[in-house]
Formats: sequence, C-alpha cells, structure tokens
Amino acid sequence: MTSHTLHAIGNIFRPAGASAQSIYELSILVLAVCLAIFLTVAGVLTYTIVRFRRATADIDREPPQVYGSNQIEIAWTVIPILIVVVLTMATARVVFDIQGRRPPAGALQATVIGHQWWWEIRYPSLGIVTANELHMPISTAADPRPTFLKLESIDVAHSFWVPQIAGKTDLIPNRSNTMWIEPTVAGVFLGNCAEFCGMQHANMLLRVVVESEDAFSQWAAAQREQARRDRAGEESFLSLSCTNCHAISGTAAVGAFGPDLSHLMSRQTLGAGVVANTAENLRQWIRDPQIMKPGSLMPNMQLSDRELEQLVAYLLSLK
Ligand code: CUA
Repeated sequence: MTSHTLHAIGNIFRPAGASAQSIYELSILVLAVCLAIFLTVAGVLTYTIVRFRRATADIDREPPQVYGSNQIEIAWTVIPILIVVVLTMATARVVFDIQGRRPPAGALQATVIGHQWWWEIRYPSLGIVTANELHMPISTAADPRPTFLKLESIDVAHSFWVPQIAGKTDLIPNRSNTMWIEPTVAGVFLGNCAEFCGMQHANMLLRVVVESEDAFSQWAAAQREQARRDRAGEESFLSLSCTNCHAISGTAAVGAFGPDLSHLMSRQTLGAGVVANTAENLRQWIRDPQIMKPGSLMPNMQLSDRELEQLVAYLLSLK
C-alpha cells in the first residue's frame, strides 16, 4: 500500500474534516465563554477574599449587613440567560449542520458494521467489502466529496469515532444510524471504538485513509479485482475451518463472522489495529490469536507447522 502520513490519534483540536471543523469551532467558543466566566468569578472571589479579610481591629464587630440590590440581581439573571441562549443557538446550528445533511445522488456511500472487535466496511455501490480501513477521496472546496455512512452493529453497541474527522455516532444492533464525513486533509486518521463493547474494546481501531481521487479509484479497482492467489495454499485454506468465518472472493470461502480476507495484504494492520500487517505478525496471529488479542473470536486452530506455513504463504498472496 502507498505510504500515507499517519496523523496523531484523537486530537480534536486539529480538525481535518468539515464536521470536525464545526465541532472544533463550537468547542472553542464554549471554552472561551467558560474561561471568561471562570476568570470573572475567580477574580471577584479572590478580590473579595483579599480586600475583605478580617482585620484585627474588626474582631468584635459584625460586618455590614446588605440586603437586596435590583441592579445586581437583574445582572446575574440576565447575563447567564444571554450566555445560555447564545450557546444553545450556536450548538443547535452545528447540530443541524452536521445531522441535517442527506446524501445527494451519486455521493459515495459506505456501510460500517461493528463486530466484537473489528469493523466491517462495505461499499455496496462499488462491490467492495473490507475491514478496519475506510478509504475515501479527499474533499476540497472546489470539489466537495463527502462520504455518507450507514452505521450498524452485528452484536453489541459500538461507536464510530475518528476525532480529527467527525464527531461520534453509535453503531446499535437492529438499527441503522447515519452520518457523513468529509475529510479535507490527506493521510491516515486513527479512530477507535468509543463505546465499551467487551474485553477487546480498546483494540478495536479503525483507520480512515484519505487520498486523492486517483489514488482512491486505483484502490477501489484493485479491491474489486480478484487477488492472484497462491493455488497450493488455497487448497489448504479451503480444507480448514477458516471458511466458516472468512470470505475470499473467487473462492468457496464465504464466511461472514470474521473479516473478509480477499485483499488482506492491502491492509496496514492485523486484529483491527493490534499489530502491523507483516508476514511474521501474520504467522504469530494465526498460530494463536488469543496471545495477541485475548478474547477475540478467532480461536487457536492448533495447526501443524506445515499447515501454518501453507496458510501464511496463501494469505500473503492476497494482495
Ligand atoms: Cu466496539 Cu467498543
């Protein structure tokens, strides 16, 4: 796969997408207002503590008792109301802006399905099924290219969150949520499942690969083609129970519980971001996935060394 800049994980203060930008601007406004309130209250409080601290001369006297002040009471009622109104309006505008958009005809659409603990990614109109990597073209002011997502879950509640690109949306069983993302910076953006979904919740990473229109088209074309598969290893693969859970296009393997492996080697990581996708890691992963990702639904298949080597050779051919 081509090299891309990997951006820092989770930094909402470096937005790289349209809705992340709106959320960032709103958060700056809210932070600024809260900071102003904090400084005012803390300032007045500090001033009062210093200015009116008890002096030895006053030790037996009661301080002056003050009752009621229309000006102050009106001020501390009206100002907070204005602040709340401004923040409500600003928030509502961002919420409608982000949620109100519907896919225009011809927009790129993808379906993201949460599994314990990985992401299934489908592009129904392109005939592509992959996992843990969401590829999409970059959006520019001249050529806006938002991708509209349908978010679903096969088992428990998960949450889609790629902080630099957009806010969070849950993936709920028996329900379809929608959102759109519109990245404006090229590179790889890390996201993680943001809803506790079991033992390996923290190892449910997602990569959003944002690339030029050309690079995206090339990727899509390569994904649609069948990989030049290692025929000897294929027999071995098909004879094992791998096919119960995994699909490889062009073969009899059509399992749906685990990630589609048709182009496994085009992906950067194994186990939804647990380790880099290298031959050695792949070998260790297949030998016993429970060491790298305890609790994962892929069992130790108790393969012989020979079977393991055949299988690794085969999977390495799935480019
Ligand atoms: Cu999936 Cu947390």
